[in-house]
Amino acid sequence: MAKALIQIAVKVQKGDCLNLAGDLLAVGVFSDSPAKSLVKTLDKMLGGSVEKVKKLGDFEAKPNTSCLLYADGKLGAKRLLLLGLGKRKKITLNVLREAVALAATKAVGLKAKSVLLSLHTDVPGSAKLDSVQIGQLLAEGACFGAYRYDEYLTDKKHKRPANLKAVVVDSDAAVVTKLRKGVSVGVVTGHAQNFARTIANRPGNVINPVTLAAEAKKLAKSISGLRCTVLDEKQLKQKKMGGILAVGQGSATPPRLIVLHYSPVGATKSTPVLGLVGKAVTFDSGGISLKPGAGMHDMKFDKSGGIAVLGAMNAIAQLKPKCRVYGLIPAAENMPGSDSYRPGDIVTTYSGKTVEIQNTDAEGRMILCDAISYAEKLGCKSIVDIATLTGACVVAIGQKRAGLMGNDDALVAKLKKASDTTGERVWHLPCDDEFVEEMKSKIADLKNLGGKWGGACTGAAFLSQFVDKAKWAHIDMAGVGVWGASENDAPGSIGFGVRLLTAFAMNYK
Ligand code: BES
Ligand code: ZN
Ligand code: ZN
Repeated sequence: MAKALIQIAVKVQKGDCLNLAGDLLAVGVFSDSPAKSLVKTLDKMLGGSVEKVKKLGDFEAKPNTSCLLYADGKLGAKRLLLLGLGKRKKITLNVLREAVALAATKAVGLKAKSVLLSLHTDVPGSAKLDSVQIGQLLAEGACFGAYRYDEYLTDKKHKRPANLKAVVVDSDAAVVTKLRKGVSVGVVTGHAQNFARTIANRPGNVINPVTLAAEAKKLAKSISGLRCTVLDEKQLKQKKMGGILAVGQGSATPPRLIVLHYSPVGATKSTPVLGLVGKAVTFDSGGISLKPGAGMHDMKFDKSGGIAVLGAMNAIAQLKPKCRVYGLIPAAENMPGSDSYRPGDIVTTYSGKTVEIQNTDAEGRMILCDAISYAEKLGCKSIVDIATLTGACVVAIGQKRAGLMGNDDALVAKLKKASDTTGERVWHLPCDDEFVEEMKSKIADLKNLGGKWGGACTGAAFLSQFVDKAKWAHIDMAGVGVWGASENDAPGSIGFGVRLLTAFAMNYK
């Protein structure tokens, strides 16, 4: 597996956060903190400084805000970081996750080596946030916030500690046990998400279909229960995967189909089989239908769906759900050249269906359709694909949510549930047959383009034509992978989809 850029360890310790030593103590503050609370105790110990910053208006305890105070020897920790949690009644798992991420971001910014986390202490019991879930999200948030993509920065001024130790502190032994259970899951998903971010952030001259396949192989080698096979261009030709081959034929680096497989110990024929399929266009220039130059560099992120699957398979193989999971990553580079596929070409896909190419920039659907058919061939009864598929999805619902479409309401509902718990937001959009009508061609079974409107829906409807009996859902993450980041997040990929797909797979029956 690619080495983590910052080594993050998350521990749980029973004790009093006021006395424990550390570079930084991070506590959660409600805008309506009750008289008996950790933050009121801290205020007294620091001679009223917490109230002072509140009165000055420097810190209103709103979510996604923080305030740094110095402990002057009055606490075990050197510094105190207040993290806003908003109103007590409105507290959610996601508010807490973002707060702890901000704490880790600030800790790295301060070059701290250790941070004590007591963000959950004043969360009211009535909020019904379970301590196991809190443990998980504290670990996930700490990993997320501490992340920086700096592997190509050579200037020493960017140096930061290679390690961060986050210690979740609680005085109650029973709570500590629950927190530990959650943390053990959260570090897995948190690290898997950061692993995904690093691969996604790497540029097109580093990650191409061949090197991406090598990363997937390396990952599978490092985790027992995870296997990886890679179909190269010869095997793709043998299998007649015309969609993947067409998109990849213009690039000096040939396409690949990466097949990851997790199987639980004792799996039998009746073990349910789930398929996760992710678009990995390692660079999308648009091909012969070339994209405009401005912003084209961001198309290195057009592999983000595939990377989400890679990251989720990393977590899934460690967390070991009871189902079997295939992670299929069709990988190609979409480039213009004398070998490129062209507008007007008719491509025969793996399914046997033919597609008239109208725009070579609608390439994601051409590689996904082959991988979706293949997932069904491998025995997947449910298939979820994830892709940076359409700019139209971003126009429709913005940069904070991914589009969610599908042919099965129960599957869509399960993905929505996973979205609620993980904070990776989705919004249900239609993809019915009226959109398919727009893609009927006179000279092939389908065109790879619909009408002028509802491009996210036509993109999904195109994919629906390659599903036979399986339950299928599609996540269009074009807006969220990079641009969905909040201003507190590190620049680049946010690893969207890793938590969502992992949570979904963990509950798949
Ligand atoms: N990779 C793009 C979609 C995209 C756009 C992702 C913006 C992230 C941000 C995709 O391959 C593409 O180019 N789609 C076209 C489809 C069109 C030709 C039907 C688009 O969105 O314009
Ligand atoms: Zn494109
Ligand atoms: Zn693309």
